[in-house]
Amino acid sequence: MWLRGKDLLGLAELSAEEIEAIIEQAEAMHEVLKRTIKKVPTLRGRVVVNLFYEPSTRTRFSFELAAKYLSAETVSLAAGSSSVIKGESLLDTALTIEALGADVVVLRHPSAGAPALLARHLRAAVINAGDGMHEHPTQALLDLFTVKQRKGHLEGLTVTIVGDILHSRVARSNLWGFTKLGAKVRVCGPPTLIPPGIERLGAEVYSRLEEALVGADVVYVLRLQRERFAERLMIPGPREYARLYGLTLDRLRLAQPDALVMHPGPVNRGLEIAAEVAELPQATIQNQVTNGVAVRMACLYLLMGRREA
Ligand code: CP
Repeated sequence: MWLRGKDLLGLAELSAEEIEAIIEQAEAMHEVLKRTIKKVPTLRGRVVVNLFYEPSTRTRFSFELAAKYLSAETVSLAAGSSSVIKGESLLDTALTIEALGADVVVLRHPSAGAPALLARHLRAAVINAGDGMHEHPTQALLDLFTVKQRKGHLEGLTVTIVGDILHSRVARSNLWGFTKLGAKVRVCGPPTLIPPGIERLGAEVYSRLEEALVGADVVYVLRLQRERFAERLMIPGPREYARLYGLTLDRLRLAQPDALVMHPGPVNRGLEIAAEVAELPQATIQNQVTNGVAVRMACLYLLMGRREA
């Protein structure tokens, strides 16, 4: 099965079957990554360009590695060291990249909707690598893949997402993904960091972390995105935030004994999560990073493979 559209913009647009197809394909790619020689010729001659207007370690490097393992040519452009500094617009930058031969443009941008804009104007496939507070679809896909790998299934699980829900594109994409695949999602954080109306997307809202954790199968901790808000207007302060919403060993005991502890990274130990919790065997933080390569290989393959077909 290929994805319906030419682009991957968000999990809101994908059906449960498409999400399952990506996870299944990622399982095959994960097998490739266990080999001594991790390369397959699938995208030989194709060009994948990473265009990043915001900092990234995990997403950018894993897309680069994913493209290389599929034998595609790959280049990365950080907006801060490009002609964007001379005033070139996003669209002109992307058209320039396409004129240079890009088949896939992987875009991270601070504005929600920027990948959708490019998708309308480019023949190349566009993959959303995080757009403002909107979506981060490949992060959610790798999270779903990681839970499936550890638990064997997603249907019927209770997933508690805790932290800065308001500014989190990861929370939005995961909410779409987990609910489409039959899991129950709770969100928890200070009332100022919970977006109004999130219940309409299928989430149960909690303001007390202890209540949100009871019986959870997955505890997904988010970073406070302090770069996106005036901190003193949204939370009393980092110490108070850690006291009320930090995931400690004592709090984790309220969840299922084998509850997974997830975090998209980067992690601020001692703020949203205690260092000893991040080190537990049930914490999947490094696992998620590793799985990001397999999932991004699957996405590139399913989008490009469709074009071949
Ligand atoms: N999780 C995530 O998107 O990390 P990066 O910002 O390092 O890509």
